Amino acid sequence: MSVLSSTRPSSRPSTRPAAHVSAHPSNRPPASPDASPSASLCGGSSAPAVRTRALHVVPEGRELPAVVGAGLHVPTLRGDTAYANLDHAASTPALETVKAAVDRALETYSSVHRGAGFASRLTSAWYEQARHEVAAFVGAREDDTVVFTRTTTDSWSLLSKALPSRTTVFVFDTEHHSTLLPWGRFRTVRLPVPQTLEDAHALLEEALVDHPSRHRLVVVAAASNVTGEVWPVERFAALAHEHGARIAVDAAQLSAHRTIDLAAWDADYVAFSGHKTYAPYGTGVLAGRSDWLDSGNPYLLGGGATRSVTEDGTTWATGPARHEGGSPNVIGAIALAAACATINRHRDAIEEHETLLLERLRAGLDEVPGVEVLSIFGDDSDRVGVVAFTVDGWDSSLVSQVLSVEHGIGVRDGKFCAHLLVDELLEDPWGERASTAVRASIGLGSTLEGVERLVAAVARLVERGTDATWTLTDSGWTVEGTDPRDVEVERPW
Ligand code: ALA
Repeated sequence: MSVLSSTRPSSRPSTRPAAHVSAHPSNRPPASPDASPSASLCGGSSAPAVRTRALHVVPEGRELPAVVGAGLHVPTLRGDTAYANLDHAASTPALETVKAAVDRALETYSSVHRGAGFASRLTSAWYEQARHEVAAFVGAREDDTVVFTRTTTDSWSLLSKALPSRTTVFVFDTEHHSTLLPWGRFRTVRLPVPQTLEDAHALLEEALVDHPSRHRLVVVAAASNVTGEVWPVERFAALAHEHGARIAVDAAQLSAHRTIDLAAWDADYVAFSGHKTYAPYGTGVLAGRSDWLDSGNPYLLGGGATRSVTEDGTTWATGPARHEGGSPNVIGAIALAAACATINRHRDAIEEHETLLLERLRAGLDEVPGVEVLSIFGDDSDRVGVVAFTVDGWDSSLVSQVLSVEHGIGVRDGKFCAHLLVDELLEDPWGERASTAVRASIGLGSTLEGVERLVAAVARLVERGTDATWTLTDSGWTVEGTDPRDVEVERPW
């Protein structure tokens, strides 16, 4: 295996390209007259006085928390086999504790902040307690606001609507589209894919010096969804603050694997998704400084987001309620809180498990001729369990289909909604390289056996080719005969 970054200098200029700036001067000022910076963690959403106790479904310990569907068997050309889930960077399975908490909450399910009945009061209390659990999970400060959203993408969209007018945004081309794209109405300074962390630091510093502005926001991923490489967030936060800018951290690929700590990082905002954190019930989070969130445009206009509505106009709430119009997704919030609590209780065991599997995955792929692993900063970078790779001479889409149909392994292929980064890492002036990659990503649903199976399957492909006959059709790679995955499965409803 070679690391692509080591082959890139030939196709990448040694002098750093200049930052790309796009200007969008037509920001509207915030619509709300209510600019109170005084919202607390829970802002306008007060928890009703119902006595509740923490639900500890799994005892404290170093054992790994169980995921729902751990025993899943899937059809392959060789018959049913245990599913090797190596697709956690896209979405994680639910934890058993999450499912248990949801089942329990459903028994008394009722409206949030909208009813006087016991069930409504209990559900409302759990909703706000879920906010506190999540606040603790991200290391929020006392005066930070924690907003429940749908996903990380939704969180960044919300923040983009709340930024002060004339904010300048600084973002690296390494980012996922959800952090790269929502700043369209702002002046945006785009920074090229760096070759080293020092390079990244220097690029950002140069851009901050070159683009002074009253309000500035640096956006950076804590871990890449393509390479898994971890960015030293504290260092970039210190740099941003040194230059009077704020920093927003995309923790979508960190939340299930490593500690998020807004306060220790001294970062201003963080976002992550429940569906990548073992709580796939439609909830995400945006947490951070209250002032911009309280003075910016409310995100979802409607009931719950208002303080008063009269013929003369509307006064919007502050705190999370300002952005959580409509009936909140309380089940999603409870699910996420359960996931956060469980992850915190099993932190060491999770990190140990993932480190072992990642080492085996990387070492195994390293032995396979023609496999190249994508990397921004090189072989030695700190990373979570996400490994994107190409197999010389094999279309990545075919590789992932073969892994599924012939071996029962789930991975993702493509550019992973990070087109600029993947294009840069795969750039090949001779046009001999793949244009997409295969990505294997590890989590609590992954096993050492699954990792070994993936390595063996890729090695077998390189040595002997595919077992079945495959044809590229308009709808992608198709296996000759009956695709074993085309079985009738009873609907869950
Ligand atoms: N953002 C998710 C991924 O990287 C969906 O696969």
